[in-house]
Amino acid sequence: MPDQAQRLRELVSALSPARTISVASGKGGVGKTNVVVNLAIAIAKQGKEIVIVDADLGLANVDVLLNINPRYNLFHVMERHKRLEEIIVEGPLGIKIIPGASGISKLADVSDQQRDYIIEELSSINNIADFILVDTSAGISHNVVNFVAASDIALVVTTPEPTAVTDAYAMVKVISQRRPDMDVRLLINMASSRKEAEDIFNRMALVCRQFLGMNIEFAGYLIKDDSVVQSVLQRKPFILEYPYSPAGKSMLKIARDLIGDLREKPSSGSWLERLLGVFRL
Ligand SMILES: Nc1ncnc2c1ncn2[C@@H]1O[C@H](COP(=O)(O)OP(=O)(O)OP(=O)(O)O)[C@@H](O)[C@H]1O
Ligand SMILES: [Mg+2]
Repeated sequence: MPDQAQRLRELVSALSPARTISVASGKGGVGKTNVVVNLAIAIAKQGKEIVIVDADLGLANVDVLLNINPRYNLFHVMERHKRLEEIIVEGPLGIKIIPGASGISKLADVSDQQRDYIIEELSSINNIADFILVDTSAGISHNVVNFVAASDIALVVTTPEPTAVTDAYAMVKVISQRRPDMDVRLLINMASSRKEAEDIFNRMALVCRQFLGMNIEFAGYLIKDDSVVQSVLQRKPFILEYPYSPAGKSMLKIARDLIGDLREKPSSGSWLERLLGVFRL
């Protein structure tokens, strides 16, 4: 009789995998959560099913930006108080949010049974999503790097600030050590112009090639835009409130480019299968 781990691996590998994009940064406050929420809606606008996994422990979370108040999170699933479908919250345009909170970051610390159970529950995402977007906490902690390394794409966000750029490089470096073949894309947020964004990308791409032997791609850029600030205050995503703002238009383009590229890229297996791997199951 196959053991539980074997059964889980078979279950997870049998699913048609949703593509996973993890949004990460070195420095905090560079705009990750805004990117996740608005990118999710931009992808939904293209007729795709999308699930956000909130793997951030910080305060300014996905639920805050969407003005939703989830009662339960993955912790409750892990404790077997709730099934996954009971904690999923629906957002604008039918996007689905899995409140991760403290549950998901402890994935490495839980008992084998709890971890197997939660991954089995998470595998049902594959039935409801074309894309999974993961919002992570800032910094290169073990857990964040695990999530990022398990994704199809690492979307690294930075602002033009030298400290943010340096920390973004540190993030790319740990990703490259973990997974040299990772598809890493840089998104420059709060740029003052296209030229500034492209200059920063070009410099970063050169350094990554020279010192890490890694080719990173340009995901695009968002201008420093008051619509973003206003939308955060109103707790309504800028892509819905201000679709014709510079940030709104740029986000739509970023979403189209990402989806287009992913369509052409062969699937490298499922996120959950790789999660089983990175957490050394
Ligand atoms: N393009 C932009 N133009 C102007 N302001 C922006 C832009 N993007 C983000 N901001 C501002 O930066 C703030 C922080 O954004 P956000 O919460 O998305 O960052 P974060 O990287 O998720 O932060 P944390 O690391 O704390 O999770 C927003 O509340 C907003 O005021
Ligand atoms: Mg955040």
